[in-house]
Amino acid sequence: MNILITGGAGFIGSHVVRRFVKEYPTYHIVNLDALTYAGNLENLKDIENQPNYTFVKGDIGDHDLIRSVFKEHDITHVVHLAAESHVDRSIQDPLIFLKTNILGTANLLQAARETWKDTFEGKRFYHISTDEVYGALELDKGIFTEDTPYDPRSPYSASKASSDHLVRAYYHTYGLPIVISNCSNNYGPNHFPEKLIPLILNNILHKRPLPVYGKGENVRDWLYVEDHARAIDVILHKGKIGETYNIGGHNEWKNIDIVRLLCDKMDAKLERPIGESRELITFVTDRAGHDLRYAIDATKIEDELGWVPQETFETGIDKTIDWYLSNQQWLEHVTSGAYQEYYERMYK
Ligand code: NAD
Ligand code: TYD
Repeated sequence: MNILITGGAGFIGSHVVRRFVKEYPTYHIVNLDALTYAGNLENLKDIENQPNYTFVKGDIGDHDLIRSVFKEHDITHVVHLAAESHVDRSIQDPLIFLKTNILGTANLLQAARETWKDTFEGKRFYHISTDEVYGALELDKGIFTEDTPYDPRSPYSASKASSDHLVRAYYHTYGLPIVISNCSNNYGPNHFPEKLIPLILNNILHKRPLPVYGKGENVRDWLYVEDHARAIDVILHKGKIGETYNIGGHNEWKNIDIVRLLCDKMDAKLERPIGESRELITFVTDRAGHDLRYAIDATKIEDELGWVPQETFETGIDKTIDWYLSNQQWLEHVTSGAYQEYYERMYK
């Protein structure tokens, strides 16, 4: 397999790239990433010199570049993660979400269709998506299955829903061999500190206020990022063409309970008086259109493909906290902006 992984310098993408480079020495992995603010090549330091790995800096929306990458590397599989991914940013500046997530995906689909036109045999276009396309659930009622109707509420989720529809349209219209997965909230190492868990950990470290939107009653279903990367591996190899798989951890938490848990665990690890960090919790104005609850029914991938999460929230959160505590330089580089110099230093 010659696999084009898009967005491989980001949070989830870097775990997917590392997994494929290490597990499959006979595959060639091409990581194409525009290195937006969310792209960080320091995430991939440990595998960047592997012979089966190539990095290409570029935009998924770049017509000529994408076609030349397909041809030059004889791409047989696409694992498409590149996206604008933060809901709050999509509320501030929606248009870049439409450009990257919808038009960028359309450009990749079209390049796959054109380059693979002689035969779709042995090819696969795998689109990584989110459970947020299904909308919001009531607090204690319901769960998202693969048949839940789409009802996206934020510019981010609407752009991801659009891209999912386009991917399915290429399957039904042109027979492009596609597969899609919709996953719940991820957490783990290399998570950019604009998202809830790394933001709270970073702020606890620096004794800064911990912003909790509204009353902190919103519920998310959390999955350890390496469990997601393993699910992506399983779906790429064993998923059925044309199908959708939901991925989740059966692990629902109210935001405020997560923030309190992180406070207590960090106090213990940093040998601060227990309760000190909870004093930093600050309730702030709620997010506009804040989805109340997400929860995933992952029965299909469990029953049909035999994937189950390996980490519990307890083990995953401990690994995550330990990673952030032992990689404070990563955090410093991200917050100072120094991480953006890595490409110039190492690749030019
Ligand atoms: P991320 O923001 O950490 O990383 C996105 C990556 O895409 C970055 O490296 C960025 O440089 C790159 N990128 C952005 N625009 C690009 C463009 N135009 N061309 C090429 N590269 C570009 O995101 P993430 O959290 O790792 O999410 C990855 C994918 O998984 C996204 O498609 C997201 O919708 C999906 N997803 C994320 C979660 C989650 O909890 N983080 C859950 C379910 C699904
Ligand atoms: P986030 O990590 O942005 O992921 P998503 O919006 O895709 O679920 O947010 C997770 C939850 O945490 C969400 O309900 C919003 C909330 N939140 C806060 O309360 N404070 C914050 O500073 C952030 C970033 C998020």
